[in-house]
Amino acid sequence: MDGITELGYVRFDVSDLSEWQGFASSILGLEVVDEGEPGKLYLRTDSWHHRIVLEQGSKDDLAAAGLRVAGAEEFADMQQRLQAAGVKYEVNSREQAEQCRVLEVMSLSDPAGNPLEIFHGPEIETHKPFYPGRRMHGRYLTGDGGLGHMILRNRGLDDIFQFYRLLGMRGGIEYKIPTPDGNVGEMLFMHCNSRDHTLAFGPSSGKHINHLMLEVDNLDDVFMTYDLVQASNYPIMISPGRHANDQMFSFYFATPSRWLVEIGWGARPATHQSEYYTRDTYGHEMSKKLGPGMSID
Ligand SMILES: [Fe+2]
Repeated sequence: MDGITELGYVRFDVSDLSEWQGFASSILGLEVVDEGEPGKLYLRTDSWHHRIVLEQGSKDDLAAAGLRVAGAEEFADMQQRLQAAGVKYEVNSREQAEQCRVLEVMSLSDPAGNPLEIFHGPEIETHKPFYPGRRMHGRYLTGDGGLGHMILRNRGLDDIFQFYRLLGMRGGIEYKIPTPDGNVGEMLFMHCNSRDHTLAFGPSSGKHINHLMLEVDNLDDVFMTYDLVQASNYPIMISPGRHANDQMFSFYFATPSRWLVEIGWGARPATHQSEYYTRDTYGHEMSKKLGPGMSID
């Protein structure tokens, strides 16, 4: 337990907080919590105080990925590790940690400039079980697999791999996908717990984030979400299908910030051994409705 243990939380800069409030509760079924802090809403998927923070801004992009370590010793060890490797980081003040509702937190960036926070000690509200924003057949699946996974911007897979190895994550190239121009697109997947991957990196667009995957424990919730998205103005960007690597059955659609959410079910746990694939098992066709600025790889 001496490295990253999970994707604990994510913070997003969003330009339309009220649109996001409706999207999060009515489409995703997340619990929206307003703590009376101006320009800020919290989203819950389980008994954590929050798993997602929405902050009023103009970037419509990832503000920080919150990567958890086990405790204070591991937090101190991580600082030594970063220092020895010449990676810049800043330990945030006690007040800033309290605002984040964690015991300690530091800020840094990965080699592609993706904003990260390494923390320990999240506030857990066991007295306040998850209360979905709309009906659900089951629940969001977190547990020791953490919030879910994200695909982030990449500026060279070798540097990204070395950086996340330093943080204690493992992984490798899992997809080599032939492209129409005769090249091969490679994707790197990193894991740190029972979830097949926690962070992944492929061909990149402008935003830090390509997509956030949230897993449900009941297939009916995938299709309930699918029906709600189809009845909305949010385009489905990748049709239902099953991934070859985590074997997740899922589909993807655009958020109000024009990056994507993947809702999935039925993933296998991480195998901790390397494998690669040239395509998915079935489905997952990309939409032709790709709009300008749409963050999809
Ligand atoms: Fe995914």
